[in-house]
Amino acid sequence: MRAQPWYLLVSALVACGSPSASTDAAIDGASLDARADAAIPTWPFPLPPTFPVPRLPPGQVLTAELAELGRHLFYDKRLSGNGTQACASCHLQAKAFSDGVVAAQGSTGDQLRRNSMALVNVAYNPTQTWANTHLATLEMQALVPLQGKSPIEIGITGHEQEILARFAADSKYPALFAAAFPGQPEPIDFPNIVRAISAFERRMISGNSRYDQYRGGNLAALNASEQRGAEIFNSEELQCHHCHGGFNFTNAVDSAGIDQVTPRFFNNGLYNVNNGQYPVTDQGLWEITFVDADRGRFRPPTLRNIGVTAPYMHDGSMATLEEVIAMYERGGRLTTTGPNAGDGRDNPNKNGFVSGFDLTPQERLDLVAFLHALTDDEFLHNPALADPFAANQ
Ligand code: HEC
Ligand code: HEC
Repeated sequence: MRAQPWYLLVSALVACGSPSASTDAAIDGASLDARADAAIPTWPFPLPPTFPVPRLPPGQVLTAELAELGRHLFYDKRLSGNGTQACASCHLQAKAFSDGVVAAQGSTGDQLRRNSMALVNVAYNPTQTWANTHLATLEMQALVPLQGKSPIEIGITGHEQEILARFAADSKYPALFAAAFPGQPEPIDFPNIVRAISAFERRMISGNSRYDQYRGGNLAALNASEQRGAEIFNSEELQCHHCHGGFNFTNAVDSAGIDQVTPRFFNNGLYNVNNGQYPVTDQGLWEITFVDADRGRFRPPTLRNIGVTAPYMHDGSMATLEEVIAMYERGGRLTTTGPNAGDGRDNPNKNGFVSGFDLTPQERLDLVAFLHALTDDEFLHNPALADPFAANQ
């Protein structure tokens, strides 16, 4: 296969037979019903009782075989140009698929500028990554680490043939590809690799934290401090829930069967450089829109498993949850020295819900305890999401 620019790969991905395309001709009651049903995909994996069914992009399918192939590819360093890095190098299951460093390096040593995101319920993200309205699907997002050249992450560009040959010659992959793409005579190609990895990511569903168990009726699942923390978190004084509310602890959620949601991005007062800007290295949504008010706007991340995904924020500039809470309590972060000096509290683009509040030392402990109760141990140890090569290493 020749090196393909990313937009060709995208069109190959979406061109793959959308089943609804031919039904437009006859719009009577029956076919409308059929289309409404088709909008809610059959989800082959268990979903928590309070979760809606995620949206599946048109033309994509989700099967156990696809996700199983995707699991192998996600963990396989042979997917990278020089054989040194897998998706899992920056997305570790024990850390809810984040990596614990401020900002990682790509396979050839390029320094990334942003913190590796946790991959938690990514199937519900209306847009992928910290601040990009163009990356509407997991399929599109996967092309960034695979094909991106500035910085290079997985670095497949220029190595496509070589990488596909590695999988074709392997003892397991031909059967895995055949099972995932029945009826395709030559299934080992990059659009299929992207489909499989995306299917695996759609399986990364987390909804069984102790807080969920508590909400489900097991009142013993949270201790008194965690229960108090939940009340503080949900209070109007703190306002956290306006941006981190709902089943996924973020208001940036999408699911099947509803109209496409408006993507949401906010400035939470992390910086204020030269009255309204963020550091020149990262201005958030503004880099996509060039609208001044979008400077410093990022997607509010889910808080599920937040206890294991430090450091925090798009640039990994906060080491602990205590630091994060101190910032919100102050109504923005004060940076006293260096090129990014300024008071985030006074950033004109800061969202009004980040307005500051006062907690007692005990209340701060309670709030942190609650955030830790959002850790889902089942998710962190789910064998279906684990490294399939680990047993052989
Ligand atoms: C070198 C480290 C690195 C590697 C390797 C890497 N990622 Fe990431 N990942 C990141 C960073 C950094 C971000 C945030 C990017 C941004 O906002 O610009 C991210 C974001 C994501 C997101 C968005 C999650 C969300 O909540 O929006 C997904 C999905 C993702 N990566 C999947 C993958 C897949 C699939 C691979 C392998 C094909 C991969 N990553 C390889 C570092 C990495
Ligand atoms: C106006 C919307 C908004 C409000 C209100 C808000 N947040 Fe956030 N939160 C965000 C955004 C946006 C980010 C990412 C900002 C960035 O990376 O620059 C974020 C990041 C975080 C993070 C780090 C997430 C990660 O994965 O690194 C935590 C923890 C957090 N918020 C907790 C809270 C708590 C607790 C409250 C209430 C005291 C709160 N937030 C209120 C929008 C909000």
